[in-house]
Amino acid sequence: MKVAFFDTKPYDIPGFEKSIENTGITIKFYEPKLCPDTVQLAEGYDAVCVFVNDTVNKEVIDKLYGYGVKLIALRCAGYNNVDVKHCYGKIHVVHVPAYSPYAVAEHGMALLLSLVRRIHKAYNRTREFNFSLNGFTGFDLHGKTVGIIGTGKIGCVFGDICRGFGMRTVAYDLFPKEDAGFEYLSLDELYEQSDIISLHCPLTAETKHMIDEEAIAKMKKGVIIINTSRGGLIDTESLIKGIKERKIGGACLDVYEEEENIFFNDFSDHIMDDDTLARLISMPNVIVTGHQAFLTEEALNNIAQTTVNNILSFFSNGICENELCYHCADVEQCKVIRNKKCF
Ligand code: NAI
Repeated sequence: MKVAFFDTKPYDIPGFEKSIENTGITIKFYEPKLCPDTVQLAEGYDAVCVFVNDTVNKEVIDKLYGYGVKLIALRCAGYNNVDVKHCYGKIHVVHVPAYSPYAVAEHGMALLLSLVRRIHKAYNRTREFNFSLNGFTGFDLHGKTVGIIGTGKIGCVFGDICRGFGMRTVAYDLFPKEDAGFEYLSLDELYEQSDIISLHCPLTAETKHMIDEEAIAKMKKGVIIINTSRGGLIDTESLIKGIKERKIGGACLDVYEEEENIFFNDFSDHIMDDDTLARLISMPNVIVTGHQAFLTEEALNNIAQTTVNNILSFFSNGICENELCYHCADVEQCKVIRNKKCF
């Protein structure tokens, strides 16, 4: 099996090279992202392996299908960048549903603690032997209410971590989990009661810009917003307005709506064209990391191993339990009806 691997970063290679040993899989690592301009690189391959910011739209899918590519293997959980509906009947799509919810949840807590205790500021001050504490007053997390939107794998781990800090954990999810230790509320109640709000739901047509001016108006003054999920969940202009009006006390952002052509690249020698991102980064109560929440050794190894298993499983018997069902949108049902195949 020949796999064209797009948007390769140096940290991707060791785990994948190890995982394909003795499997019969060969991988060509391409640096560019998959998009209409680069799709021709996939000609002659059986599968493409893509990440969060590759563009897998109708045009790309039709070209891949024309080249005889049979499988799109996402090496991530989210698949909002793939037109899965358009793939139906043409190319199968598999993903890595879980690789380390701990990596993402722990990063969310790292951001929160850094922001609340001004670690990002203190680090710079002490490097210059400035040991003044002025402006560093934080607050205890103990006893605060954290509102978790999306109590799937990552949201549940984040909830466990927060309970370890003695926080009250309230939550909103379309499908509440009875035994997950959350107090489920309506979205409005969650906005009204939370000192901290952490987003862990996927980006869909329904959740796009769920944090907008109207939602922010319902929140507590001084609320801290954490987003380790997808940038599009937040209307960034509304977030900036909320921070400028002192309604929002701080933001911890590992993702950004317009990250596609910025994150994962080094622009330290350039003038940043994106004024919105530059404004966010200029704010003392905002911490931005470049979509790194997933980046732990455990997660990278799990991603590589699961992706390789997905490819092997698909090419050996045409069935993969991590296939995305884009026909009936009900994976369990689809597995029964279609014998674990989407089409
Ligand atoms: P999951 O599928 O286990 O959980 C998602 C939860 O969101 C489910 O409980 C689902 O019912 C809920 N949900 C769906 N629509 C909703 C809505 N409209 N309102 C409220 N809840 C809703 O997913 P998991 O593994 O916990 O990942 C969550 C998100 O984290 C992913 O969608 C992905 O975008 C993001 N992610 C970010 C990473 C990073 O490096 N920053 C790495 C991995 C995932």
